[in-house]
Amino acid sequence: MSGKYFITTYGCQMNVHDSERIAGILSGMGYEACDSIEQADIAVFNTCCIRENAENHAYGNIGMLKKLKQANRNLIICVGGCMMQQIGKADILHKKFPYVDIIFGTHNLDNLQSLIEKKLAQKKAVIEILECDGSVKEDEAMLRSSYPNAWINITFGCNNFCSYCIVPYVRGRERSRQSSFVIDEAREMVAEGYKEITLLGQNVNSYNNGTDDIKFPELLRRIAAIDGKFRLRFMTSHPKDFSEDLVRAIADNEKICNCVHLPVQSGSDRILKEMNRKYTSGDYLRKVEMLKKYIPSCAITTDIIVGFPGETDEDFEDTMRLVRTVGYDSAFTFVYSRREGTVADRMPDQVPEEVSKERIMRLIDLVNSQTREKSATYIGKTVEILCEDYDDRKGMYLGRDEYGRMAYFASDQNEIGNFLDVKIEDANGISLKGEIVNKR
Ligand code: SAH
Ligand code: SF4
Ligand code: F3S
Repeated sequence: MSGKYFITTYGCQMNVHDSERIAGILSGMGYEACDSIEQADIAVFNTCCIRENAENHAYGNIGMLKKLKQANRNLIICVGGCMMQQIGKADILHKKFPYVDIIFGTHNLDNLQSLIEKKLAQKKAVIEILECDGSVKEDEAMLRSSYPNAWINITFGCNNFCSYCIVPYVRGRERSRQSSFVIDEAREMVAEGYKEITLLGQNVNSYNNGTDDIKFPELLRRIAAIDGKFRLRFMTSHPKDFSEDLVRAIADNEKICNCVHLPVQSGSDRILKEMNRKYTSGDYLRKVEMLKKYIPSCAITTDIIVGFPGETDEDFEDTMRLVRTVGYDSAFTFVYSRREGTVADRMPDQVPEEVSKERIMRLIDLVNSQTREKSATYIGKTVEILCEDYDDRKGMYLGRDEYGRMAYFASDQNEIGNFLDVKIEDANGISLKGEIVNKR
């Protein structure tokens, strides 16, 4: 088969990595990537449903394809991912957009080749949504597009059932890959020249829970022991399982970045209980203290939800207080979004949108002021940056330091994938600007 494909990805890094798997399948079939959907013979949408706006975004973009399909009858439109895995969503999409050719879910991504072959042989749409069978795929063909970073899945699914969250319903129960396969994949990536490895899971700290294979801190140690210069990162850590052993592994291994994403969600104990997060603000702050004791310079980032059902002004003030206490390097802030089928969706006292909006603006102001303060401390310092990309608009290269802070700098040669010492001259909100003083 030959032709061109274009993949549009929504949602989290796991979806971004799933799209690398989709690219692997399509290129294995003989298709080539192209730069715009207008040139494509196969257009794939890998969707997300974490919040309502993620779904609206996908609906909007798929809706705009009608014209393209009319102009090119042979275009195959595929829609997959978390949004399609929700009960009844595939049928809704099929009715709304009958010109979509293939609809698949999160558990049958590996069947994409056969679904495409089936569609080429028949006129009507191919819809296949499967239940999670609990299996774990190893050694899958990927076509990575995130050099110098390589994403590596270590767990799939989630068992936590935070009351607001749709992920456990669309990604199935938590299961871990075998450590030997994960370590081999990391070794292969380093040998291929990747400079950063990011281990992925909804809760990496529970890696291999319930099995006799090695646990997460040991997995980190073994990957960090691979020869070569590279950075090791991971996401996400659930605070309830964030352990001293893990912190020691980070502290003892230079390759593991001193940067931890530790989503708190709320600073109110009452709300945390309603969210089913299984820790109190006190538990969380003790873990942060422990982390700062071992690694005083460690960057800490977080996710926070505003306007969870029943959140009062006082609950929100508890969140603001916790944010002031921790002093985050950066934080993702979200207005609570009702997700059908979750426990929180059935709770009374849904918070009016205006109230949530007012709260989130105040929270964003606080978080931004913390981020700006941290940025200002960089001025005059020289930091090691891994160059990741080139920004056409700015005409500059960009990369991050081990703490995850973005820096821009100029160079007259391709620096992507290089470690560089950059002297920071300017700090503009979250990003830094500097000059290369040494190449490694
Ligand atoms: N497994 C990860 C994150 C998964 S989703 C973890 O537990 O940390 C990423 C973030 O989206 C969550 O941390 C949460 O802050 C946010 N989120 C999840 N469901 C949401 C909802 N219904 N409304 C608003 N934000 C939500
Ligand atoms: Fe969702 Fe909670 Fe699982 Fe994260 S840990 S994916 S927030 S249920
Ligand atoms: Fe990720 Fe969205 Fe699915 S955040 S796991 S792509 S619902």
